Amino acid sequence: MLVINNYKEMQKYSFELIAQKQKIGFVPTMGFLHEGHGSLIRKIREISDVVVLSIFVNPSQFAPGEDYERYPRNFERDKQIAEDNGCDIIFHPDPINMYPIGYGTEVKLKKLIKTFEGSSRPTHFDGVATVVAKLFNIVMPTYAIFGQKDYQQTLVVRQLAKDLNFPCEIIIAPTYREHDGLAMSSRNVYLSPDERLSASILFHSLEKARAAIMGGERNRKIINAIMHNSLRSLQGIRIDYASSANAESLEEPDIFLSGDKVVLLIAVYIGKTRLIDNLVVNVPAISTTLEDRFVEGV
Ligand code: PAF
Repeated sequence: MLVINNYKEMQKYSFELIAQKQKIGFVPTMGFLHEGHGSLIRKIREISDVVVLSIFVNPSQFAPGEDYERYPRNFERDKQIAEDNGCDIIFHPDPINMYPIGYGTEVKLKKLIKTFEGSSRPTHFDGVATVVAKLFNIVMPTYAIFGQKDYQQTLVVRQLAKDLNFPCEIIIAPTYREHDGLAMSSRNVYLSPDERLSASILFHSLEKARAAIMGGERNRKIINAIMHNSLRSLQGIRIDYASSANAESLEEPDIFLSGDKVVLLIAVYIGKTRLIDNLVVNVPAISTTLEDRFVEGV
């Protein structure tokens, strides 16, 4: 496995691969890899000739006071995990190589970034969009894969790739979960043993809301309340948001309709650790009379 630290070298390598008609599969990460990343590498390996994984803790997507400095890093361990899962190249640039003195460009979306993560972390998606655009220009992937765990990010990246005409297919992979349902995340390492046990409440709250939708609930406020009530059963939890929205547009109608694709989104603090999770639910058909009742709000 090759490690490349410099964007120019990476770009040169990618140009050579493209000239040889090799399909480049790309897994962008911030490192501290876990089994979820392993699954992304294995999945993209199936359709690519060469797999590139980037490890870059991107300063521009962290606001002052967030966890940029303490974000977990362990390059030697990451190298082993990447190699074990079939990665060919790690692109591991320094911040100064990505954002040299005099750097002055930002990529900013006009939609999808105001609510949920965007409301709690107002500059976050500008940093994500900027670094993803830069990484796409450097790696020039045929495919790029992102985990559904960062749901809003997947919408942002799809929009960005489409709007900026990147010739890259975006693949979204299902969230990889621990045995108790907790979504795998590099930040789970911040949790104390007790907090780690409590953290499965996110998934269980999402499941309760999903069950309600499957059982006929269509009222967004009631669906949100189900998640809030479930989360509140854990002492000391601080809810940032627990909401439902249209899974494509992130719009928040009063009532969801049969056939709608809905995303349930949660962000909470357990202790000092901020955790996010989501589930996508296809709203099933219910009897016409029942649906009329919901739409009329009777
Ligand atoms: O999801 C992440 O790890 C990061 O947001 C990404 C996409 C690598 C950009 O820094």
